[in-house]
Amino acid sequence: MIIAIDGPSGAGKSTVARLLSKEIGFEYIDTGAMYRALAYKAYIQNIDINEVEITEMLKTTNITYYDNKIFLDGENVENVIREEAISIAASKISALKVVREKMVEIQRKTAENKNAVLEGRDIGTTVFPDAEYKFFITASLEERARRRYEQLKINNIKVDYAIVFNDMKKRDENDSTRRFSPLKPAEDAILIDTTKMDLIKVTKTIAQYIGGSNVL
Ligand code: DC
Repeated sequence: MIIAIDGPSGAGKSTVARLLSKEIGFEYIDTGAMYRALAYKAYIQNIDINEVEITEMLKTTNITYYDNKIFLDGENVENVIREEAISIAASKISALKVVREKMVEIQRKTAENKNAVLEGRDIGTTVFPDAEYKFFITASLEERARRRYEQLKINNIKVDYAIVFNDMKKRDENDSTRRFSPLKPAEDAILIDTTKMDLIKVTKTIAQYIGGSNVL
């Protein structure tokens, strides 16, 4: 069974998808981490993010997601892909058609024959259009920026709220206006606005939808 959880950044997808997968014993697959890992490689190797350069880079790049961790060319990069610079580069790289095709293929393979909760932007629309359950989680831009800011603070990453807010706005624009698989709810997705909800409550709501009212 596939459960798709899509939505913009900062809406609470990761927290909810992690909590849910743990409670129901499903595998958790963070598809954003795959785009981030690619962006990280381009960033550290000073590779310009355009179709030609990235097509070349992909030929010698190996992305795997295993045991809740993301591996880039065999190395666990989980701890180096969450910085603002990588967030921006990931948004840019994820707009490339060649990147999307490759990542979608990897995502389908990773979830093959599994019970999995996949978190991303296009799971319900493109990666698994036949997913048994689709959720689109959102929240106001202000609230999402605030959450992201708090998260960065916890991780000891120093940054101004105004910068986080503006970056998030820019990423929203990139992700929803790109030509290939833009961020948008699938027609049959259940929409949940988390602006005023705590994420445990959101997870419980989702668990109820999938018939596990006694799950949490
Ligand atoms: O969820 P995240 O912030 O870790 O995602 C990083 C970037 O990757 C984000 O700008 C959108 C992109 N992304 C995507 O295009 N499709 C996905 N399925 C997941 C993420």
